[in-house]
Amino acid sequence: MEAAIDYDIVSIDEFDALAIELRTPLSTKYPAKEHAKKVAKHLGVKSGLVYLPGNGVSQWEDSDMGPPFRQRRFFYYVSGADFPGCAVTYDIGADNLTLWIPYTPPSLILWFGTTPTPDECLTKSDLDNVKYIAGLPAYLNSTIREIGSLYVLRAEQIPKSLSLGLLKPSIKIDTSSLLPAMAEARVVKTEYEVAMIRRANDISSAAHRAVCEGFRHYANECEVEATFLRTCVAENAHMQAYPVIAGAGPNAATLHYDANDQPLDGRQHLVLDAGAEWQCYASDVTRTLPVGGKFTKEGKAVHEVVMRMQNECIDMIAPGTGFRDMHLHAHRVATRELLKLGILRRGHDDYDDKMADATTEEEAVQKILASGVSSAFFPHGLGHHVGLEVHDVAGKQRLMSTVSPWTVGNRKNKRDIVLCEDLVYMIQSSTATAAGTTSNVLGRPLEPGMVVTVEPGIYFCREYIEAYYLSKPNLARYIDTAVLDRYWNVGGVRIEDCILVTEDGYENLTTAPKGEEMLKIINGK
Ligand code: GLY
Ligand code: MN
Ligand code: MN
Repeated sequence: MEAAIDYDIVSIDEFDALAIELRTPLSTKYPAKEHAKKVAKHLGVKSGLVYLPGNGVSQWEDSDMGPPFRQRRFFYYVSGADFPGCAVTYDIGADNLTLWIPYTPPSLILWFGTTPTPDECLTKSDLDNVKYIAGLPAYLNSTIREIGSLYVLRAEQIPKSLSLGLLKPSIKIDTSSLLPAMAEARVVKTEYEVAMIRRANDISSAAHRAVCEGFRHYANECEVEATFLRTCVAENAHMQAYPVIAGAGPNAATLHYDANDQPLDGRQHLVLDAGAEWQCYASDVTRTLPVGGKFTKEGKAVHEVVMRMQNECIDMIAPGTGFRDMHLHAHRVATRELLKLGILRRGHDDYDDKMADATTEEEAVQKILASGVSSAFFPHGLGHHVGLEVHDVAGKQRLMSTVSPWTVGNRKNKRDIVLCEDLVYMIQSSTATAAGTTSNVLGRPLEPGMVVTVEPGIYFCREYIEAYYLSKPNLARYIDTAVLDRYWNVGGVRIEDCILVTEDGYENLTTAPKGEEMLKIINGK
């Protein structure tokens, strides 16, 4: 899939930053109409009116300040409008997409500036009409009478201005079909969306590089966060797709650490998981940097394990690949490598299975894998969709499971912990499928146009491992605590890239330095 927008990242010396130069002007419009048509296709109807309200501004309790404006993603998908107080309607039968925008009076312009005019909206986004929102109630009431059905995301979004009492009882208001249809439409990205995600990744990659360049001079996690944000904002990327995670030492083992205020001295690694947003599209990038520019023996070993997990999983990506197979492959690699390092072991003879001498290395790997114990060290999903949300919608089937046919936020795919029993279930159901005894248990196969993260990690979270693994003899028997004691200080290692699935394989959209290149930059070479 080719990007709609072509650009280069160039270094600007006097600014000590990277700038992104467009090779061609940003002439392509936001493909709101193409998206609306996709939604209608997934709704599977020939007529009806789709209605989505955009977001308004909000204020914190007892304050005249509030969070930065964030547009509703489903609304943005079919409008391309990123300002408050709008709505959008799509008349499916007439193929008419109308954006309804607020009129901003001069009294508000004084405080907050102007909002886009109808012409500006038409220039930015592929819409049929742009009208002032004061005319929306009359339009809704007459059009619904004519068309007979209205589709909204959920009951709370039925427009208040609709005179329900005056509508014929035969008029259908559907509050359940639109959300799954829109989520499914969003799973496979359009060319324009890929270009936005690519650009978000380019900015994040430049910011990760800037952190590597300065890292040897930093004394605290906060300087990492500051450099990352500075680079993004200097590229006009003012929003992050999620709060910056800059965790050193044991903080690297906290998946969503965000205090970012601890000294680096005496810590082995820093996990930097940070991704800019570009025009509402996310990126999601993680690198693990050795404090002082050199990995410790243990740190190097674990970093190599995670690199291997990531490289082998990325190489599996192609249309038709099961993401859950990739996740299990990552566990297979982790188990094999942690066994070599001695953190995992073949179990205790005195427990039950006399495995210590009786099996080959590969049989030992299979047996340890089947126990689920590797989830002690790799306790989350391998990745998730990326798009208008960092954990983007999954559509009709999640990447890694059969449950919940559609989900917003896709939480089960990444940040829900993958417990030992989840992993065991995945392994057992995969085997069953391979034997042909059951089907549809492997999660959703990859398709061209999907963008997913591949983000394996190995963590040494003492509280978690002690509470749920070392306390259970059937799992603890596979962990050598004498060896593990040497690894607690490694904290954690995660490496994460955003990958576009293409017709014949994949393209890595993340260009942040990693491996040897990253080490060279950190060491000023
Ligand atoms: N940064 C959130 C994640 O990796 O899923
Ligand atoms: Mn991620
Ligand atoms: Mn991440």
